[in-house]
Amino acid sequence: MILVTGGAGFIGANFVLDWLAGTDEPVVNLDKLTYAGNLQTLASLDGDKRHVFVQGDIGDGALIDRLLAEHQPRAVVNFAAESHVDRSIHGPEDFIQTNVLGTFRLLEAVRGYWSQLPAERKSAFRFLHVSTDEVYGTLSPTDPAFTEENKYEPNSPYSASKAASDHLVRAWHHTYGLPVLTTNCSNNYGPFHFPEKLIPLMIVNALAGKPLPVYGDGMQVRDWLYVKDHCSAIRRVLEAGRLGETYNVGGWNEKPNIEIVKTVCALLDELQPRADGKAYAEQISYVTDRPGHDRRYAIDARKLERELGWKPAETFETGIRKTVEWYLANQEWVRNVQSGGYRDWVAKQYGDKAKEGTQ
Ligand code: NAD
Ligand code: TYD
Repeated sequence: MILVTGGAGFIGANFVLDWLAGTDEPVVNLDKLTYAGNLQTLASLDGDKRHVFVQGDIGDGALIDRLLAEHQPRAVVNFAAESHVDRSIHGPEDFIQTNVLGTFRLLEAVRGYWSQLPAERKSAFRFLHVSTDEVYGTLSPTDPAFTEENKYEPNSPYSASKAASDHLVRAWHHTYGLPVLTTNCSNNYGPFHFPEKLIPLMIVNALAGKPLPVYGDGMQVRDWLYVKDHCSAIRRVLEAGRLGETYNVGGWNEKPNIEIVKTVCALLDELQPRADGKAYAEQISYVTDRPGHDRRYAIDARKLERELGWKPAETFETGIRKTVEWYLANQEWVRNVQSGGYRDWVAKQYGDKAKEGTQ
């Protein structure tokens, strides 16, 4: 049994789905179901006894204590976070609450549980913390990609809160010996991505005939990783990562934003042409830049490749095509997200049983 937090969000849900497709080891999935949590993403697991969903907060220490005591997991994988940079600029408080305080409470509960495990289970236990490359700050066009040795220089409230959580995880290892692993990943994309982030927003807006807002000059660079490759990296680190180490995860796919948007438009032109025969790229609209916008992220993932033999399965070209095809084939999921209908899903599917939180 493993405990996954944030498993109703984009990456966490992909992780849970892939995990249960590859093994029968059950998952307890603790998720607060904020606006970003969507149980419809996990609909294919309805009735599957290997998946125990619990609605609750990683900051609820009593709840975590109870879940750990009841389910006796051999590992915790912490995806739960507030994750959107723009939201962190407009309202940083939730980011501090969940990413900093929430991680602290989770670490404390896990430490209490882990410290009383019998010796063999204690040494086999793992706490894997999922973090981001954004903690390293921003690169100039000629800087080498981020390695695990880069200084932490977070620039947004989001990245600062993630950096704080990474430091807590590090300290809980150094001070208390908690067997932790941290992964720092580049920008993910793929199925079930909430359409407030660049790639899904562009797909959804293009199909709806809306403008495609490109911040500033569109020349900011991000390094893209297909979400299922991120999930395989996490499984590999959980299996064989060295305790207390951090591992960068990336697919060597640096692209300027405008190129991403044009690629999405070209795929849509091919797969679902506009009724008026015009190009989707005509909907591109340059808008005011994000304050403090980091210019470039790039990940050097050689440590993970060298030490643990991990490699991504997708190139950007194969992954982005799969992603656009997925959104075209899953319009109901998109409509439910846009209408807010996905928020009723928990009540419909789980009733009050899922609401085990003590707050
Ligand atoms: P997401 O916003 O799609 O999902 C986050 C999930 O966490 C949601 O289901 C939400 O309901 C849940 N959650 C939020 N606060 C919670 C709390 N207090 N208690 C329990 N659950 C809570 O995010 P994502 O894109 O899936 O990211 C997952 C993790 O990966 C985050 O830690 C993020 O920082 C990290 N990460 C994301 C990316 C990316 O490109 N999306 C890249 C690198 C790292
Ligand atoms: P985003 O998906 O929010 O991820 P992050 O900020 O964590 O990298 O944004 C990716 C890039 O796309 C980032 O440089 C901001 C830019 N962007 C736009 O140009 N327009 C948009 O509407 C959004 C959401 C992002």
